[in-house]
Amino acid sequence: MISQSTASSVKESATTAVSRPRLAFLGVGWIGKNRMEALIKNETIEVAGIADPSRDNLDAALAVAPNATTYGSFEEILDSDVDGVVIATPSALHAEQSIAALNKGKAVFCQKPLGRNAAETEAVVEAARRNNLLLGVDLCYRHTCFRQIHDIIQSGELGHIYATELTFHNAWGPGKEWFYDPKRSGGGCVVDLGIHLIDLALWTLKGTKVQDVCSSLFSGGSTLKDPETQVEDYATALINLTNEQQEKTAIHLNCSWNLPAGKEADIQANFYGTKGGVAFRNINGSFYDFRALRLNGTQTEVLFEGPDEWGVRAVGEWAERLAAGKKFDPEANTIVEVAKVLDRIYGRI
Ligand SMILES: NC(=O)c1ccc[n+]([C@@H]2O[C@H](COP(=O)([O-])OP(=O)(O)OC[C@H]3O[C@@H](n4cnc5c(N)ncnc54)[C@H](O)[C@@H]3O)[C@@H](O)[C@H]2O)c1
Repeated sequence: MISQSTASSVKESATTAVSRPRLAFLGVGWIGKNRMEALIKNETIEVAGIADPSRDNLDAALAVAPNATTYGSFEEILDSDVDGVVIATPSALHAEQSIAALNKGKAVFCQKPLGRNAAETEAVVEAARRNNLLLGVDLCYRHTCFRQIHDIIQSGELGHIYATELTFHNAWGPGKEWFYDPKRSGGGCVVDLGIHLIDLALWTLKGTKVQDVCSSLFSGGSTLKDPETQVEDYATALINLTNEQQEKTAIHLNCSWNLPAGKEADIQANFYGTKGGVAFRNINGSFYDFRALRLNGTQTEVLFEGPDEWGVRAVGEWAERLAAGKKFDPEANTIVEVAKVLDRIYGRI
């Protein structure tokens, strides 16, 4: 366990800049290839090599990075001279692969979830801290227009935020079968979608502590009975936070896969304060287009709306920081706090 004081005593440090970091890509399915293409476009990095057991996915990735080496195994990446590894494999592999890469001196950018639970997540952050290496996690919704919501709340202009409503319904559900196998995914819609919303809330409501968590998990319309063999496809949770003044914030979380939501996706993060509200909402059921709104009584002001290339900013920022020689950043501890809330939603602690 890393205590907060130990973690924050390790200050982010810049050492020798790596002019164009050489990266290995581990797992180039949908998101791995997407993030690799984005990094190729912004020219911050060099794609040194790729590893993926799926020949089709490997070939599709090599088509956009024809000069990349093909690694036959993860061990080949570990023994190579790459500066960093971008991991986008099935979720249950993330912690083990991240720790192995960090222990071999490679910086890591990993897809969420970083671990299947708080213990795994904490072990990865600890490996990054111990080896003083940059660790990034693809918490990509922080890089949408939600940033404006975050900044308004942080400015204090909304007074005390007493209520937060978080929603992420993906009416399609994941297309790949491994998502439905808890051994390979670590869980269902909470670890897939809820993780983003909990991260947004804890990031925005800084200085609060989780007081209690109460949740209900469903699978196929029935109570989730066996988390060893089933994953939840609907979850609802009430998470109570308190701040230093002992004022409370109630967070209501709802997330699902395959819900008859009447549209492809319903994504919202609404925050209500004593001096007004703000909302982050997807547009027309889109997975990609969002609005940021300022709410005053019955009036709504649009702060931002429309298409935006937000999906690639987290990985782009990580690559730029790696190129600038950045090392471990204690901010990585925030993902452990998120994982602890997920453990409580799952009833593990
Ligand atoms: N940040 C986000 O919002 C976001 C969005 C989508 C997916 N994800 C996460 O990204 C991860 C991948 O999701 P996806 O939809 O791209 O899945 P995917 O199934 O399309 O891709 C996974 C890839 O990993 C490969 N793989 C499997 N075992 C491997 C191994 N041992 N070594 C190397 N490669 C291996 C598979 O062949 C496949 O190409 C998941 O953890 C998911 O939660 C995050």
